[in-house]
Amino acid sequence: MRKNVLIVYATRSGTTREIAETVAEILRKSGFSTDVQPAKKVRSIESADAVVLGTAVRMGMLMPEVMRFVKKHRNKLVEVPVAAFAVCLAVKDDTPENRKAVAGYLNPLKKEISLVSEAVLAGAIHYARLGVFARFVIQKMVKAQEGDFREIEKITEWSTDVARRFRSS
Ligand SMILES: Cc1cc2nc3c(=O)[nH]c(=O)nc-3n(C[C@H](O)[C@H](O)[C@H](O)COP(=O)(O)O)c2cc1C
Repeated sequence: MRKNVLIVYATRSGTTREIAETVAEILRKSGFSTDVQPAKKVRSIESADAVVLGTAVRMGMLMPEVMRFVKKHRNKLVEVPVAAFAVCLAVKDDTPENRKAVAGYLNPLKKEISLVSEAVLAGAIHYARLGVFARFVIQKMVKAQEGDFREIEKITEWSTDVARRFRSS
């Protein structure tokens, strides 16, 4: 029987949802059935044989609804294989400062549960998708360049690794 993978994401401007959909597509091609849901809407995770968590990073922090999801469902999440990805911009420019930041992004999750696979993936900045405050921070303070920095090869490679680990666990 096909294993069910629940893919739970938390996004602010949509990129993490789109990456979650891509991960789901690759897992389906690898023989899993998938269910993709926003963290705020998940009711039950009892039918999941494995879970993928995906979260955007803002101001160095994971989205709070993902942390709430993990705390709420911790008892089940320690019984099934869990993989997680964070979506950010720091990973696209390899500086010592960014490397340090990127290395720590998933730590709050890893304090709660163990992960069979993890990735920090490059996301996107579209000013038109941001609220007034976020746009001000990004344009005027951080001066981040607008663009889509997703790397489909990295997403595919990681999803393939997740499929392999879920198959063997
Ligand atoms: C207000 C704001 C704060 C951000 N803070 C960070 C950060 O601390 N580190 C980082 O690497 N990227 C940061 N980013 C970039 C986002 O992680 C990136 O745009 C990501 O693709 C957002 O995912 P989402 O579209 O799913 O919300 C920030 C973006 C915004 C708009």
